[in-house]
Amino acid sequence: MTATINVDGKSGEYPVHAGSIGPEVIDIRKLYGNTGRFTYDPGFTSTAACESKITYIDGDQGVLLHRGYPIEQLAEKSSFLEVAYLLLNGDLPNQAEHDEFKYLITRHTMVHEQLATFYRGFRRDAHPMAIMCGVVGALSAFYHDSTDIHDPKQRVIACHRLIAKMPTIAAMAYKYSVGQPFLYPDNSLSYTGNFLRMTFGVPAEPYVINPVVEDALDKIFILHADHEQNASTSTVRLAGSSGANPFACIAAGIACLWGPAHGGANEAALDMLREIGRPERIPEYVARAKNKDDPFRLMGFGHRVYKNYDPRAKVLGAAATKVLDTLGISDPVLDTARELERVALSDDYFIEKKLYPNVDFYSGIILSAIGFPTSMFTALFALARTTGWIAQWTEMMEDNDQRIGRPRQLYTGHGPRDYVPLDQRG
Ligand code: SDX
Repeated sequence: MTATINVDGKSGEYPVHAGSIGPEVIDIRKLYGNTGRFTYDPGFTSTAACESKITYIDGDQGVLLHRGYPIEQLAEKSSFLEVAYLLLNGDLPNQAEHDEFKYLITRHTMVHEQLATFYRGFRRDAHPMAIMCGVVGALSAFYHDSTDIHDPKQRVIACHRLIAKMPTIAAMAYKYSVGQPFLYPDNSLSYTGNFLRMTFGVPAEPYVINPVVEDALDKIFILHADHEQNASTSTVRLAGSSGANPFACIAAGIACLWGPAHGGANEAALDMLREIGRPERIPEYVARAKNKDDPFRLMGFGHRVYKNYDPRAKVLGAAATKVLDTLGISDPVLDTARELERVALSDDYFIEKKLYPNVDFYSGIILSAIGFPTSMFTALFALARTTGWIAQWTEMMEDNDQRIGRPRQLYTGHGPRDYVPLDQRG
């Protein structure tokens, strides 16, 4: 099938490609050559930048599949490490594959000892995401034996190193911020249990892992692992398209994720809920969110793709109640969140614009109950999303159609004009 585009009385036929599920695409690679014109799509609302087999989202139905498996089933039945294997390799592992992957990741959990001194250069009150950007980018200064992107073996080692070391790096960022000593990984623990101990354990006494917390955090990591071609994943792909090494590409993804419109929304959402404080103040904030002259937005609401309830938010909303009840924590912020959701979802503005809670609306309530400061929330998002980023990067590196990403523009600046010497300017 083809699509016909008529410009200046000339018409051109452009191939239409069908995927396995979801929207077809119109292949416009020859449009500029044929018409001397670009497409114009700021924010890429209608643009498919690549072909991928990793994650599928149906925003209208609120469906999220990883290699075909629904996120609800993975969150309920799988583990983060198994989901990481699935994203990287395309299928769920059998027992031998699972055990080998767990062994490989576990063997890479330590970071180069000199990296610990790297943290000393930051102020103690540095935002953990600032530290993550710097330290992850610096990994390419330490692991030269896995930066050759054309060597498949080195690409695999780099993937394993990044998945394995992100918990260690994130935990070190937290320890540095609270002035406590770093803990080395304990490879007898689970991936998430190891992270909990490095974060909340101290050398002075054994750390007892709460299985409810370990399970809830592992579920949160699963829910944040990958999400198609979102802003930070697109950043990683674009950085990788220039041939940059994987550590630099992931550092670019971390930087992009930090923004409050993206991964930074989990921190902003909890800050907003705490600022609202009491359900009686909700109408004031909903009114602000609807006011075109007020830049305020309901953080944790709305999504470029989901025009239905984000399936991850559904899982997190249920998990929030279970975790707080099990830990015996009553946080009024959860009541405020529930009431805000009820009010917003019955308001015409949010109904018409199809604004629903997204992954960032409830996650912070659980993370706060576990004991993380809000400043760590996006670092945890980056920890989990590194698996998706590196799976997408690997897919791009193996794509024969892969070229450097180089969008064009609609130029509205000055036409050619001659230089005016300083003494002749007005
Ligand atoms: C993530 O892409 C991904 O997949 C991201 C993510 C992932 O896993 O990688 O899912 C993670 O980033 C989730 C989103 C977290 N961000 C927030 O919660 C921040 C608040 N939400 C937004 O700012 C906004 O909804 C975005 C950024 C998420 C989506 O922005 P879009 O798609 O560009 O939509 P838009 O800004 O053009 O908004 C459409 C309309 C606008 O009104 P009009 O100009 O048409 O009149 O909806 C309004 C917006 O003003 N709107 C909101 C709103 N979000 C959109 N109004 C009030 N509160 C909000 N939260």
